[in-house]
Amino acid sequence: MSLPKGFLIGAATAAHQVEGNNIHSDYWAQEHMEYTSFNEPSGAACDHYNRYEEDIRLMAEAGLNAYRFSIEWARIEPQPGVFDENEIAHYRKVLECCRANGVEPIVTMHHFTSPRWLIEQGGWEAEATVERFARYCRYVVEQLGDLFTYVCTINEANMGLQIAAITKRYKQMMKAQSAEGKVQVGINLGDTLKERMKKQAAENRKIFGTPNPQVFVSSRTPEGDLLVMKAHQAAKAAMKAVKPELQIGITLSLHDIQSLPGGEEAAAREWEEEFMHYLPYIRDDDFFGVQNYTRTLMGPDGSLPVPDGAETTQMGYEFYPQALGHVIRTVHKSLPIPLIVTENGVAVSDDSRRVAFIEEALRGVDSCIEDGIPVKGYMYWSLLDNFEWQKGFSVTFGLIAVDRATQQRSPKRSLTFLGGYAR
Ligand code: BGC
Repeated sequence: MSLPKGFLIGAATAAHQVEGNNIHSDYWAQEHMEYTSFNEPSGAACDHYNRYEEDIRLMAEAGLNAYRFSIEWARIEPQPGVFDENEIAHYRKVLECCRANGVEPIVTMHHFTSPRWLIEQGGWEAEATVERFARYCRYVVEQLGDLFTYVCTINEANMGLQIAAITKRYKQMMKAQSAEGKVQVGINLGDTLKERMKKQAAENRKIFGTPNPQVFVSSRTPEGDLLVMKAHQAAKAAMKAVKPELQIGITLSLHDIQSLPGGEEAAAREWEEEFMHYLPYIRDDDFFGVQNYTRTLMGPDGSLPVPDGAETTQMGYEFYPQALGHVIRTVHKSLPIPLIVTENGVAVSDDSRRVAFIEEALRGVDSCIEDGIPVKGYMYWSLLDNFEWQKGFSVTFGLIAVDRATQQRSPKRSLTFLGGYAR
């Protein structure tokens, strides 16, 4: 394999999933609600806030030369317009630690979590969020910009539309089920669910001042989708005004969409929604962050279940590492700018399957580079077994295992295997 010299080989995390005690964030509030959808709260997570030195050292010792992590807006600006210098000092130490270990930091400004106050003020459907996000990004670059070059503004900017699509499908399914009476026993599923939703709405009103809080990972309207793009562009301009040399991009969650006979139109529609319609807002960026985990098969009526007999991951996705190379090629056709794989990974308990996944995924990346596609780096998701949002700590994506009782780290073989690719 001939990954070019200087190719970034690293791992990714997000603040809320690893740091612990992100108390001013919207997620913290949601996790502690009586009618929460979370399996468990994030709590101390992986205590990365205190153990970042050990984690970065383990990464560097294994050969990795890059680390993608996020700066937590809720820490930096816990109240509107109130910036916390102690938190800036914390992230300065993290960045300096990367530099001391020869690890290139790739900083994400927003990875799903927001300050709770932002959601109380309309969140990701409120026009004011555009300027507020840009102000926070500018502040971070003013304070810490001497220590990093690569910036992802917003992680998986298309997540809201993907949530909107599954919510719609789910509602249709519920309707069809109650109409056809598919469940062969007398239960009041619909009523229980409705009752629960009512209670959730009341609790949301109490905590966020609205029954329907617009956190980042919630059903987005087309206007909200556009607002996220405006936030990206405003943040980019604000950061470049402080440090023009920054390399700034956005990341999207992308499936390798494959059509079965008759599924071509549905596949094209899906790709349009997932990727193509964002092009006008991202084509002048310095790079684009590809995030991919699996493929989606499309039939005439839309997406199909995982094929019978296929290996699946703890997330229920098809184990299909070839997806990454396919997605890179498809993206490059419409967006010929430098690409960084900002996330690709697999949740499995058997680490040898993770090694096999990484090997196949990087084979795909290598063949793209051989064909002249400018892929600059590969960040495996994730460095640590961490807090997988509503699923809690039940799934394991990490290159490093974390003992939940002691926080002790145990590097897996996949960590050194990945590091072996760095030159
Ligand atoms: C997100 C991560 C998440 C990962 C695995 C991506 O959607 O950016 O925060 O943990 O996928 O599900």
